[in-house]
Amino acid sequence: MINRETIDNITSAVRIEEVIGDFISLRRRGVNLLGLCPFHNEKTPSFTVSPVKGIYKCFGCGKAGNAVGFIMEHEHLSYPEALRYLAKKYQIEIEEEARTPEQIQETSEKESLFNLNEFARKYFSSALFDTEEGKALGLAYFREREIREDIIRKFQLGFSPDPWNAFSEHAITEGYKKDILLKTGLSLEKEGRLYDRFHSRVIFPIHSASGRTLGFGGRILTSEKNRPKYVNSPESDIYNKSRTLYGIYFARTAIAQKDNCYLVEGYTDVISLHQAGVENVVASSGTSLTTDQVRMIQRYTSNITILYDGDPAGIKASFRGIDMVLEQGMNVRIVLFPDNEDPDSYARKHHPQETEKFITGSAVNFISFKTKLMLDETKNDPVKKAGLIKDIVASIALIPDVITRTLFIRECADLMTVPEQVLMNELNKIRRKRLNKELQERGGTDDIPAPEIIAPPQPSAETDTSSAESQEKEIMRLLLLYGTDIVHIEQPDENNDIVKVPVMVADYMVHDIRRDELGFDNKIYAAIFEEYIAGLDKDQIPERSFFLGHEEKEIAYAAVDLVFTPYELSQNWKKNNVMIDIEEERLIVRLDYSLLSFKARKIDRLLEELHKKLHGNESTEDVKQIQTLWKNLKAKSVQIHRKLNRIVIR
Ligand code: UTP
Ligand code: MN
Repeated sequence: MINRETIDNITSAVRIEEVIGDFISLRRRGVNLLGLCPFHNEKTPSFTVSPVKGIYKCFGCGKAGNAVGFIMEHEHLSYPEALRYLAKKYQIEIEEEARTPEQIQETSEKESLFNLNEFARKYFSSALFDTEEGKALGLAYFREREIREDIIRKFQLGFSPDPWNAFSEHAITEGYKKDILLKTGLSLEKEGRLYDRFHSRVIFPIHSASGRTLGFGGRILTSEKNRPKYVNSPESDIYNKSRTLYGIYFARTAIAQKDNCYLVEGYTDVISLHQAGVENVVASSGTSLTTDQVRMIQRYTSNITILYDGDPAGIKASFRGIDMVLEQGMNVRIVLFPDNEDPDSYARKHHPQETEKFITGSAVNFISFKTKLMLDETKNDPVKKAGLIKDIVASIALIPDVITRTLFIRECADLMTVPEQVLMNELNKIRRKRLNKELQERGGTDDIPAPEIIAPPQPSAETDTSSAESQEKEIMRLLLLYGTDIVHIEQPDENNDIVKVPVMVADYMVHDIRRDELGFDNKIYAAIFEEYIAGLDKDQIPERSFFLGHEEKEIAYAAVDLVFTPYELSQNWKKNNVMIDIEEERLIVRLDYSLLSFKARKIDRLLEELHKKLHGNESTEDVKQIQTLWKNLKAKSVQIHRKLNRIVIR
């Protein structure tokens, strides 16, 4: 853990234009700098860097953040890794928070697994290129498969030579410990002796997203039927199959740039496609796709195209994969290869451009894919057709976003020539069932909320009196923009004379909101507010940069958004002839206006709720209490609205 102080040192030392300037060229445009966005393809620059605010935002693709966020996004690093990168650039010493002996033990064991894997990777590579046996068997094998040498080197392929314990022996003499050899699975133990798991196989190192060697796959050179074609490293502290994607290290930049990830089955599919110039490709390596793998891809793109062999097994596997991807709220398309072809064999038989063209040309969305595939089977059989419809609707029901669901239902209705409403009913039935099941599993059955049913669009937040979204947003914006500024507030002193007292904006706002015991509906805003409260309690108001580079991406994104959003309540201000471009000295007026609007909305909503309660059948005692509460609140509401009007009139 990097300590708080170091993080603050780093964020205050970095100049965002220098950090980003290392990767793309920026031109000055007014107070900002402008360049071509590295996260999507564009010809006219819409990537804006604000040195004053310390943030960047691309108005083309919406990516935004501060320097730490940029490094995380661009270099695909974790939060601490990005901090280390910046610390190095600005020569800031990193102070780690003290770790427990167990934590130290754990990391050093992981490190020794990584060290051994690195040693093995180099050993296998030099056995392939520098030994007669390696050249005659390993290189010859790759050559036969038409894998070019630059690709062999890029993917760090190797060879595990004779005799059957050559590697284990060598590792032991180099000082590597037996238990680490066994834990990585590079060696196996039989009757007290070590032998090599990958003996006489060509080696495919498996890399993490940041390029470390997690494990290996080894393929036999022959086509013997009685030995497994591939053996793989076993699971260990550093290798978790379901959280690994083969090729991710080599594909991540291309995935982000192309905003799409191709998913294939095998090591050789990834390699052959790379060789054909298609680099945004990873493999699930034999296991069926997992949620963790889908989430890994989601860090770079929300579009997945599944490339599968046309055999029945491949198709079945793609069905499971489709649902998994849909459930994560991602878009999925499918490419089915011709019979007896996989991406590897196809890429080898065709010109690189043809391969790319085939993939983009034959990708279909999952509805058309499932429908077309199964419609042939179900032709003229109403029972089978009904089964197919249910199957497809069940997939659509997994999609979290209601609009996407609606669009797919429409498409499905068209393809199957079934009324949309019928499908909608089926979909709602499935969602309701799923919801009930979830609730039962969680142990609560009584308070079942109404299922989310697709309905005509709801009135927007502006006209919806129950939402305080825009008021909450404005409070947040002011906090982030001016939180650490000083304003002079008029207050009575001990002689009841009005004097001006300096306070920090965050202090002023947070106290005011807490005094009335009001909170935020928006969860992210609530989290930000909590950070302010915690900061004030410690007399340390968090800086804007702290939120812009927040470890939790949701908070960082929200913060950037808030800082970039133009003044939202301007409609009201304009209407009432109040200056929109308020300078710093008018800040107080704006603060008060926003605080009062926020309170007015919250209190009026409470009043509405109480009103409803009064007209329900509550017991008489409750009625009395509610009435008193209502009266108090009403008085407060009138007071607030009066104040608001006064501000506006001025
Ligand atoms: P495939 O049988 O499609 O292998 O299995 P492939 O990649 O096309 O291999 P080649 O072209 O015959 O060399 C797909 C993936 O399943 C895993 C591997 O990750 C393989 O890449 N697999 C397959 C195993 O782990 N063990 C096996 O015995 C077979
Ligand atoms: Mn193959």
